[in-house]
Amino acid sequence: MDVLRVEKLKAFYIMESAGEERAVKAVNDVSLTVRENEVLGIAGESGCGKSTLLKSLLGSIRPPLRHMGGRVTYLHRDREMDILSLPKEERQKLMWQHISYVPQGSLSVLNPVRRIGDTFRSFVGAHLDIQKDPDRFESLVRSHLQDLGLPVDTLKAYPHQLSGGMRQRVTIALATILKPRLILADEPSTALDVVVQRGVIQLLRDIQTEQHNTIVMVTHDMAIHANISDRVAIMYAGRIIEEAPVERIFAKPLHPYTQYLIGSLPRIGDKSYRLSAPGTPPSLADLPPGCAFHPRCPNAESICRREIPSLSLAGRDHRVACFLAAKEDADVGSSEALGSQ
Ligand SMILES: Nc1ncnc2c1ncn2[C@@H]1O[C@H](COP(=O)(O)OP(=O)(O)OP(=O)(O)O)[C@@H](O)[C@H]1O
Ligand SMILES: [Mg+2]
Repeated sequence: MDVLRVEKLKAFYIMESAGEERAVKAVNDVSLTVRENEVLGIAGESGCGKSTLLKSLLGSIRPPLRHMGGRVTYLHRDREMDILSLPKEERQKLMWQHISYVPQGSLSVLNPVRRIGDTFRSFVGAHLDIQKDPDRFESLVRSHLQDLGLPVDTLKAYPHQLSGGMRQRVTIALATILKPRLILADEPSTALDVVVQRGVIQLLRDIQTEQHNTIVMVTHDMAIHANISDRVAIMYAGRIIEEAPVERIFAKPLHPYTQYLIGSLPRIGDKSYRLSAPGTPPSLADLPPGCAFHPRCPNAESICRREIPSLSLAGRDHRVACFLAAKEDADVGSSEALGSQ
């Protein structure tokens, strides 16, 4: 079952300079569905629009970001809610209890002058009527921390007394205490060292197993996707260019950009430098015509310079936006697609 549907979503940063408007096309015609209980990974190099996409999914589009078209629909309790046209109060109600957001750089979201316990108290208090029942609050927070393997003493600490990894776990504990159905996490482990990172990812996995929620997990790190994601969507220059189950994307990446992303991961025993994509990503304010990847693509043909490829089926649950990859895989794609019907 789908919990979230994104259809042809466009959100641009509209910048004005010298009386002229310039559009930074950060989310450019994105269509995507998120299924119940899955971890959907979103990957792609810095500046491709991952965080902007996540903010748009939350309906949090404020100037200079502007909604230029498309829809974001939540399917909740048999209701369809178009979050971008929902009144603010209804959107906020839906948020936090049902959707929770771990923003990028969230190591710094905890208020430095408040004890962790007070932050929990005001957050939970804003959503549940706990003022009358402090015991209920205490037991809710304690049992949640214990479930997440965090020491209850953490509640007495100030953020600066905790390590980066612990602060990030506390942020995740805060984001999940109300058992949201959907968690949107933006690079939750990026600022941490590898061992601590593993702990944070494991924590999110444990929460998902226990609470059966759905996670949209943004990280540029493909190794993390290999660990946690069920499906992965690859973004390039504001668009989704490939989408497939995680095993499939690693075993058979079709888009040349995905092939570079996966090919650049180290392999044991191989001491040579792995290939990364040549060149740099285009400016989102000045995209090349046709496929935005064509200037970096080793296989580009004339159609790639003229037309934008759409995301089309290239195997079971596998979509790719590449004229050449789709052509190459057409036989497999059509037979598998038939097989899945
Ligand atoms: N407030 C803003 N005003 C104008 N442009 C912005 C703003 N925030 C982001 N951008 C631009 O939008 C594009 C997408 O940015 P976004 O932060 O969504 O990328 P990202 O994929 O999350 O990158 P990263 O991996 O570095 O977090 C970038 O070109 C960025 O410079
Ligand atoms: Mg980001």
